[in-house]
Amino acid sequence: MTMPHALGRLGDAAACLGVIPEDAEAVLVLVDTFAPEGDAAARNIIRDYTLVEDAPPIIAMLLRAKEPDDADAAASLNDIPAAMQRTSTLVDVSTGLVEVGADDVFMQPSNLVDLPAVLGIALTKAKRHYQQIMSYEEQISDHLDSHNRLFWRAIHLVFNNFPGLDMSIREADGRVGDRVFVNTIGSGACGQVYTSLNEVTKKQEAVKVISKKDITEMKQAAAVWRECRALRKLQHASVVRLNQLIHAPHHLYLCMEIAGPQNLVQRIRESPEHCLEGPAAQTIFRHIASAVSYCHDKGFAHRDIKPENIAVDVQDHATLLDFGFAVEFKAKPDGYDDHCGTMPFVAPEVLLGQRYQPDAADVWSMGVVLLEMLRGMNALMKMLGWRSYECSSRYGEELTRFFSSPSALAAALQKCPGAAIPEDALSLLTTMLVPRPSERARASDIYGATEPKA
Ligand SMILES: Nc1ncnc2c1ncn2[C@@H]1O[C@H](COP(=O)(O)OP(=O)(O)OP(=O)(O)O)[C@@H](O)[C@H]1O
Ligand SMILES: [Mg+2]
Repeated sequence: MTMPHALGRLGDAAACLGVIPEDAEAVLVLVDTFAPEGDAAARNIIRDYTLVEDAPPIIAMLLRAKEPDDADAAASLNDIPAAMQRTSTLVDVSTGLVEVGADDVFMQPSNLVDLPAVLGIALTKAKRHYQQIMSYEEQISDHLDSHNRLFWRAIHLVFNNFPGLDMSIREADGRVGDRVFVNTIGSGACGQVYTSLNEVTKKQEAVKVISKKDITEMKQAAAVWRECRALRKLQHASVVRLNQLIHAPHHLYLCMEIAGPQNLVQRIRESPEHCLEGPAAQTIFRHIASAVSYCHDKGFAHRDIKPENIAVDVQDHATLLDFGFAVEFKAKPDGYDDHCGTMPFVAPEVLLGQRYQPDAADVWSMGVVLLEMLRGMNALMKMLGWRSYECSSRYGEELTRFFSSPSALAAALQKCPGAAIPEDALSLLTTMLVPRPSERARASDIYGATEPKA
C-alpha cells in the first residue's frame, strides 16, 4: 500500500494547502487537538481540499500529545471525569471534521508499530465512503441534467415563440454551425460577444453566446427572451438589429449586426482628456436620443441605459444594445417596482424604491450618460463625493437633494476640470437630471432639442 501523502501541519498558523500528487490514494490531515485552534485549522484545510476537483479521500488523524507512560496511564484511569471530558472533546472534534468533508477520522495509535495497519483500515473505510459520495453526486447531477434538458425542450411552452431546441446544430470550440468566431468584442454578465463569419454566406455578425448551464433561474431565461422579443419588434438605425436566436444543445446564440468595434466606455476612455469633444458628443448623443425616443414611442423602455450598452462605430454612429431589462411599459400604466439598471445611471425614484415609470427613468439615465460623455467616466460620483456605487435609497436622497437646486449642476460642473460645457448641452442636462419624474423632459423632447442648428 502506498502511504497516504501528509500535507501541511495543523495547529500551525502557516498550515497551507499542498499539491496533491496525481497518484495519491488519500490526503492525510494530522490534527493537533492540543494546539489552540488546532481543530479549526484542520477544518479549514479539509474544507479547502473538498473544493479541489477530483481530490482523493480525506482522512484525519487525531494526534496524541505524548505517549502516556505507566504512571500517567494509572493516573488517568483514576481521573474518570477528566478522561470523559477529553473523550467528549475528541468526539466533537471528529464530528466537526466529518461535517466539513473528512471521509474518516481515527486516533493516532498509542503504539507506532500499529500505525500502518490503522492507516490501512482507515484508508479502506475512507475509499468506500468516498465512492458512495461520488455515486450520489453522479446521481444528483444526472437528475439535474435531465431536469435541465426537460426545461430547455419545453422552453417554447413557457415563453411563446422561443425557438425550440435544435439538436442538429453542431457546436465546437470557436464555431457554431456555419459561423466561425473571429474576435471577442465584448463580455458581460451573460457571456462573451464575438464577431463571427458565416463560411457559407460570408456574412459577418456579432454573436452573444450564453451558456445554458449558466441559466439557473427562470428570470435569466426570461431576460434572454425579453431581449429577443423587444429587438424583433424594434427596427431603427440606432437600435441593434437581431438577425436570429439560435437554440443549440449547449448554448443560446444571439446573432446581431456588428454595431461597432467599441462601446461608449471604451470610446470615452480613448478620447483626449478621457471626455468626448463637442461634435463627437453631439453626434453620439443625438443617436442615443433618437433610439430611446423611438423605443418609447413603440412602447418599450430599456431600463439599463449606460455607456457599456451603447456601441459606437468609426463614424461615431451610436447604437443601443442589451435589451435584457426592456419592458413594454404601456401595458402597465401604474408603473414598476423592481429594481433595475446599473449605478450610477439609476434614477432617484428607482433608488428610493418608489413605483416608477420606466420611460422617465430612461431619460434620467440618458442624462448621466451625457454627463459622463462630457466630463469623463465617474463624473457623477466625483461631483457628489461618493466613494462607492451601492444601489441604496441614501444615494436616491442625495441625488434628489443635489439636483433639486437648478444651479447646483452648473456650479459643480464649473468646479470639475475640463472645457466649459456649451449652453445647449447644459440645458439638456438640466432638463434630464430632474429628480421629479413628472417634471423631467421626455425622450422625444430631448431628441428634438439635439437637432443640429441650421
Ligand atoms: N451587436 C453588437 N455589436 C458590437 N458590440 C457588441 C454588440 N453586442 C454586444 N457588444 C459588446 O459586448 C458587450 C456586452 O454585450 P451586452 O451588454 O449585450 O452583454 P450582457 O452580457 O448583457 O452585458 P451586461 O453585463 O450589461 O448584462 C457590450 O458592452 C459591447 O461592447
Ligand atoms: Mg450589457
